[in-house]
Amino acid sequence: MKALVLSGGMGTRLRPFTYSTPKQLIPVAGKAVLEHVIDNILAAGITDIGVIVGDRSEKIREVMGDGSRFGARITYIHQAQPLGLAHCVLIAREFLGADDFLMHLGDNVLSEGITEIARAFTAQRPDAQIVVQKVADPRAFGVAEIDESATVTRLAEKPAVPRSDLALTGVYFFTPAIHRAVDRIRPSARGELEITDAIQWLVEDGACVKASEYSGFWADTGNVDAVLESNRRLLDEVRPQRHGEVDDASVLTGPVVLSPGARVVRSCIEGPAYIGPGSVVEDSHLGRYTAIGAGCAVRRTLIEDSIVQDGSSLSDLRRLSGSLIGRTASVAATRRHRLIVGDDSRVEVAS
Ligand code: G1P
Repeated sequence: MKALVLSGGMGTRLRPFTYSTPKQLIPVAGKAVLEHVIDNILAAGITDIGVIVGDRSEKIREVMGDGSRFGARITYIHQAQPLGLAHCVLIAREFLGADDFLMHLGDNVLSEGITEIARAFTAQRPDAQIVVQKVADPRAFGVAEIDESATVTRLAEKPAVPRSDLALTGVYFFTPAIHRAVDRIRPSARGELEITDAIQWLVEDGACVKASEYSGFWADTGNVDAVLESNRRLLDEVRPQRHGEVDDASVLTGPVVLSPGARVVRSCIEGPAYIGPGSVVEDSHLGRYTAIGAGCAVRRTLIEDSIVQDGSSLSDLRRLSGSLIGRTASVAATRRHRLIVGDDSRVEVAS
């Protein structure tokens, strides 16, 4: 079985970060969302992975390389325009050949993995298998109706009036039957070839489409709140690691990942927390659910429930919470507010 990871898309809801970085590379719990996706795929025993990339493909190639670092083989497939998830299957046809495949959206976090579901698909081998989860408001997702034997009877993409509360997560298992379907469907109202429509085509054509309900944490990390929530959930699962240095005046409680070359000086770190390679935390307090990237400096600052990306510095901040800081950014307190803020940024200062 192969895997197809979809990492194109514009990431408009994550601007300004996505002006420079594809959304799949935003780190949660110290690792790009895309790397968590690859972990799920490898855990399911798949090493032959196609990655669909869009505009900023070079960034993704830089981080993922040829896959050998993870014991995988990555083939990049370029999508010139984001024309939909089914369009990705269309342009990946040569890579996929006649194999069954797992399709995983590159911005979806499923913290408990998909190994069991992959096993069920391989054992039963329906024509297609979707992964669903009950959500309070399914209108932002594909929505599935299933019968008592978990056979899918109908699907709709982002219906205004959902007929069930089962949302499609961004994980799908396909046999080559899907290729027939993606050839037949037409673009949706948003101008995209929807994978939901292709699966609905299979259902109407009499194919056997099954649904597996996923009970673990699932998020589509398309916006800042979902990124922070994923960071919390994944940090909850980290095991403490102590590679860096901690001086005698510092206190670490709870699970803290201290990466190689990181230094904690006169500070208090409350886990779950992650401190990336070569970062310095001095005279500061890191509250729960803080993830600091590589090569950062945090000085005289209280920060909690936040993500700071590589190469950034924070100083003299009284309390930073629920924040997502980009790469090589600098945030400092002075007696007045002086802000140099990029397009589409959001700043909330304490009054
Ligand atoms: C896509 C799919 C949708 C699915 C969702 C999961 O939506 O079209 O059916 O529920 O991913 O993340 P999009 O992210 O393109 O809006």
